[in-house]
Amino acid sequence: MRVLVLGGDGYLGWATAMHLSAVGHDVCVCDNFLGRKLHQQFDCEPLFPVPQLEERARIWGEYSGRHIEVKIGDLTNWAFTLRLFNDFQPEAVIHYAELPSAPFSMADQECSALVLHNNLGTTHNIVHAVHETCPHAHIIKLGTMGEYGTPNIDIEEGWIEVAHKGRTDKFLYPRQGGSLYHTTKIMDTDLLWFYVRIWKLRVTDLMQGPVYGIATKESQLNPALMPHFSYDAVFGTVLNRFVVQAVAGIPLTVYGRGTQRRGFLNINDTLQCIRLVVENPAAEGELRICNQFVEVFSIVDLASRVVSAARTLGIDVEVSFLDNPRAEAETHYYNPTHTKLPELGLQPHLLTEETLIEMIKLVQSFRDRIDSKHILPKVRWQ
Ligand SMILES: NC(=O)c1ccc[n+]([C@@H]2O[C@H](COP(=O)([O-])OP(=O)(O)OC[C@H]3O[C@@H](n4cnc5c(N)ncnc54)[C@H](O)[C@@H]3O)[C@@H](O)[C@H]2O)c1
Repeated sequence: MRVLVLGGDGYLGWATAMHLSAVGHDVCVCDNFLGRKLHQQFDCEPLFPVPQLEERARIWGEYSGRHIEVKIGDLTNWAFTLRLFNDFQPEAVIHYAELPSAPFSMADQECSALVLHNNLGTTHNIVHAVHETCPHAHIIKLGTMGEYGTPNIDIEEGWIEVAHKGRTDKFLYPRQGGSLYHTTKIMDTDLLWFYVRIWKLRVTDLMQGPVYGIATKESQLNPALMPHFSYDAVFGTVLNRFVVQAVAGIPLTVYGRGTQRRGFLNINDTLQCIRLVVENPAAEGELRICNQFVEVFSIVDLASRVVSAARTLGIDVEVSFLDNPRAEAETHYYNPTHTKLPELGLQPHLLTEETLIEMIKLVQSFRDRIDSKHILPKVRWQ
């Protein structure tokens, strides 16, 4: 299939592009390097050096014999977006091109405005470009499990049937984001649902949990193909950050009591889920919502797993409980459903001690690049 990977320079985008290219799809990646610019602005470089996107595509071509087309441009720019879709005529569009950081979205008015306009702006343009140039294409949009928040009832996969005064109907499951970033994802879902109803688009919205992991089959071919791996308090996800902290000997920073529970997945499972969804598209006029995670852990549980894996390698690291910079329930009910992706064939990678040891070893070889000043959270919600 002809697959457009939007946000293809990012942590998940580049790994996805290589994976889909490796299994035989024709891939075009697009990015405007906004992620890189913000990392530079916050002076927090990724752990591994990341060559420019064109250079990575060239190296991938050398190793795989497969071509990945690269387009540089801003998807909030309508003329650019329309041209991109018109020229490439995708059959599937993977929409990663958003600013994914909750702390960044809570830093100040300028940051929150950028997240709001960028995330809704890309989604809005992508929907219109599909409608105008390739109305049968399947849009695969990355949402987040954080859209649901932590309700005191089971979390369904996107939809819930409500019985009210003797009548029933099906609605989007109630959502309540814990940051402006999560709120933009909720708004994205509403936007998609609106256009699915009006234009009969085919859309899959993946409610993804926090992703961890570094190596994928394709990135192991050459260090220049590694993902854009962040470990700082603004852009890094929790488990990736803990692994780097362990290697640097910095106590693992658990926010509050660490009893918050979330659904996690390995980057290799993100790749599997995306491939399964690309190859099994939603129907026309369907907004399919899948909860994309594999295992639920509390944050303190993750920290103790990292401590124990590090100990196996002779590294002693402690856990440090910080005042929670976020406004979130620390003790809460959490029982999210996640059956649709396993039904499509997902074979989960579980978080084993071996997985953590592999990650720690890989991070150890880049230990000199760890900058400890970016580990402590500086953005507070209140
Ligand atoms: N990484 C996770 O744990 C996780 C979890 C749940 C959901 N997600 C979602 O998955 C997607 C990808 O996440 P990621 O971790 O790879 O993020 P990332 O920041 O590494 O990648 C996003 C990429 O999109 C690009 N981009 C942003 N705005 C753009 C624009 N206007 N035009 C063109 N390119 C633009 C950025 O430059 C960046 O390269 C995001 O939408 C994120 O919200 C990620």
